[in-house]
Amino acid sequence: MPLPKINPTHTKAWKKLLEHYKSIKDVHMMQWFSENENRASEMTIHWEDFYVDYSKNRMDAKTMALLLELAEETQLKLAIDKQFQGDIINETEGREVLHTALRSPRSAKIEVEGQDIIPEIYEVKAKIKDFTNGIVDGKRKGYTNKAFTDVVNIGIGGSDLGPAMVVDALQYYKNHLTTHFVSNVDGDHVNEVLKKLNPETTLFVIVSKTFTTQETLSNANTIKAWFLKSASENDVAKHFVAVSTNIEKVKDFGIDGDNIFPMWTWVGGRFSLWSAVGLSISLATGFDNFDKLLAGANAMDNHFKTADFKTNLPVVLALIGIWYTNFFESESEAVIGYSQYLNQFATYLQQANMESNGKSVDRNGDKVTYQTGNIVWGEPGTNSQHAFFQLIHQGTKLIPADFIGFAKSLHGNKDHQDKLMSNFIAQTEALLNGKSKEEVVAEFKSQNTSEETIKQLTPFKVFEGNKPTNTILIDQLTPESLGKLIALYEHKIFVQGVIWNVYSYDQFGVELGKQLASKILKEFGTKDQIAGHDSSTSNLLEYYKKLS
Ligand code: F6P
Repeated sequence: MPLPKINPTHTKAWKKLLEHYKSIKDVHMMQWFSENENRASEMTIHWEDFYVDYSKNRMDAKTMALLLELAEETQLKLAIDKQFQGDIINETEGREVLHTALRSPRSAKIEVEGQDIIPEIYEVKAKIKDFTNGIVDGKRKGYTNKAFTDVVNIGIGGSDLGPAMVVDALQYYKNHLTTHFVSNVDGDHVNEVLKKLNPETTLFVIVSKTFTTQETLSNANTIKAWFLKSASENDVAKHFVAVSTNIEKVKDFGIDGDNIFPMWTWVGGRFSLWSAVGLSISLATGFDNFDKLLAGANAMDNHFKTADFKTNLPVVLALIGIWYTNFFESESEAVIGYSQYLNQFATYLQQANMESNGKSVDRNGDKVTYQTGNIVWGEPGTNSQHAFFQLIHQGTKLIPADFIGFAKSLHGNKDHQDKLMSNFIAQTEALLNGKSKEEVVAEFKSQNTSEETIKQLTPFKVFEGNKPTNTILIDQLTPESLGKLIALYEHKIFVQGVIWNVYSYDQFGVELGKQLASKILKEFGTKDQIAGHDSSTSNLLEYYKKLS
């Protein structure tokens, strides 16, 4: 059964939220903090190793109560159940959405078309484990009988961003293998990676759900040709493996049947790192760590499925996002990981979030009349403080931000960790409090600044504050906690898609550009003047043809 198709703006809760917004839009959060000394504890959810404080948001208890009514009226609970039980909720592609099954325990039973999929999932996991151990232990060798030293993941979008982000985030847990990622069809990417490699000791993992993606196939072909300069066709089987649903196409590419790791159409590309798409994670960190990542995600799945919405992390964070997007009309949200290990987290989230909810037609096929899909961006703290924080603190835009930090470091250097975490805590305090005119003047006076300078500079030094943040403080970065964090955002995206009444699991918006690029690619090869384009496109095409 498909998802409910409820226009959120037609609910009673939406109308109440519109009224409520008018009454609190100008309130400074500090007023609520001074009126209620329990505000922080009332608006903090402590679940396992996650401490999530959402009190620094422009909302009160009534706001959350109304947002919860909205979740109720849009039948969120029913939608969650449908997703987990494998209903065809990706209606436009006629598919189930079961990335959560990939991290379910062996004892689970989840059916697709009457067939329990758990045994298949565990078969592939066993294959991943076996293969990983062979490569990591050096028992599986290359064509000159040397152990592997390097792994190259060839894929793009969901077949790249998730594994690349996790391998980077779990560097601390890495083994001796060096992992590389080739995604862009720009030849510079593959060329620069190949310069670093020895064909005798490199394993290539081609990851493509469809095995039709131009970028991935071009890179795979270039790499295979490079490999064959020193090795023979017979050696390909030892060095090339593939992850795909399209077994025939993989075989056509010349990959041995044994070297194919299957995946399934019920796993969306951007939610696929939990499948064999995560093979490079398993190779880089060992299968046990990959499995712990999955276990962490499964813990978050259980929390999401069972926790009351009031204390349900993905639900609460999603509702806060809706509050800003649809009532404050904010356009974007920043995700700032106070960990260099989360360097690629925002990039990963951009696909997960924007490919999922960047939709303007609702589940009834009607054009939406409200905002959906936020722009997600961010960089790690403290670097970002020295880059774009000026705009968040004193700019004209409202940018709600998630601050993610880990209480215990992995490196053990207390000096660095204390400095990092003092910034982590101070920034959300500064964004909340701001700095009043009185405080600025008092500070100037304490420094014996002249009256003239005080008058001149005070306006520039005032911070209004009242800038919303969520603080996600996690005990430590481990494979489990990373799994939980990723699953938290996956579910947040799902909840928002349900409430916005859009289909979060298709991505037709990326098709048109692909179609036109393949048409233009053919036109590059013709000598004739090209018709059928607007004049700007025609000029660009002709100009490129002349120069290239
Ligand atoms: O960009 C569109 C997209 O279809 C993504 O959804 C997907 O993750 C990516 O391309 C790669 O697709 P594939 O894994 O089939 O090569």
